[in-house]
Amino acid sequence: MDMVKRPRRLRGNTALRKMVRETRMDKSSLIYPMFVVEGTGIRHEIPSMPGQYHYSLDMLPEALSEVADSGVSSILLFGIPDKKDEIGSSAWAEDGIVQKALRIGKKEVPELYYITDVCMCEYTSHGHCGALCGHDVDNDETLPLLARTALSHVEAGADMVAPSDMMDGRVAAIRTILDENGHKETPIMSYAVKYASAFYGPFREAADSAPSFGDRKTYQMDYHNAKEGIKEALLDVEEGADLVMVKPALSYMDVIRRVSETVHVPVAAYSVSGEYAMIKAAAAKGWINEEAIVCESAASIYRAGADVLITYYAKELAKFMEEGR
Ligand code: PBG
Ligand code: ZN
Repeated sequence: MDMVKRPRRLRGNTALRKMVRETRMDKSSLIYPMFVVEGTGIRHEIPSMPGQYHYSLDMLPEALSEVADSGVSSILLFGIPDKKDEIGSSAWAEDGIVQKALRIGKKEVPELYYITDVCMCEYTSHGHCGALCGHDVDNDETLPLLARTALSHVEAGADMVAPSDMMDGRVAAIRTILDENGHKETPIMSYAVKYASAFYGPFREAADSAPSFGDRKTYQMDYHNAKEGIKEALLDVEEGADLVMVKPALSYMDVIRRVSETVHVPVAAYSVSGEYAMIKAAAAKGWINEEAIVCESAASIYRAGADVLITYYAKELAKFMEEGR
């Protein structure tokens, strides 16, 4: 048999397979999302996201230390306020939930890198990601609200801000207000390519941010489109985004690939709540091997072109990555 090329030669043992790996995963590229709420003594498990919790501020330092101990170095913070109104004014309140969490976190667990999600939907009474004009979100009226919120996060200690609203022009609005206030060095990670997705279902329960009427299709992207994702990413980079995100991850691998080849900034992928919930549910039934699926999914997202991975499995993945899985 005259066969010179035998691909199996490189698969013969573990050391060799690891030596020639094309995708190497590093825990420093992981970001762990966390939810903070008002109140005391709260560490409530989110029903549709087993293993993920709502933390009140007194419970937060312990939870943050656990993240740091797991080897994850960055978190993405979401706040659930007590009071909601038409324009979401508690989003930029000096004593807002995220602002208070940042002050506590930066003091108690300063070794973590603090990124905040900037959006209005957790703070508005109607659950949309901005101020309304009739039954739709008013793009230009929302920009100053987002800018103000981002600034208040940075002034409370955020290391990076991540706008997730999908309004046109919001990266420029945030960059301008940060620069004017002496925060020229604070990076922006924009949720640039964010689809209107049913995969956010569990999150909306967790963040109490489901829209009270309609959907988010007039501002989040149509999942039939990929070229449009390139347009969104390029626009945000032009406006000053330092990283761009594609969200969700697993059903959008083609988009991650195309964006990472077109846009010359780091690309983050957000493996969202629905992706987490599906793995958890199947694992609870004993139908899949949870650890194996988590490693395989993460590797495939990096292989598609992601530089950074935002995932509810970050703490577990940090360990798996250390083990070279
Ligand atoms: C807020 C926001 C959402 C997510 C992140 N930021 C929900 C939404 O847009 O409806 C989803 C995260 C997840 O599902 O894990 N705009
Ligand atoms: Zn929102």
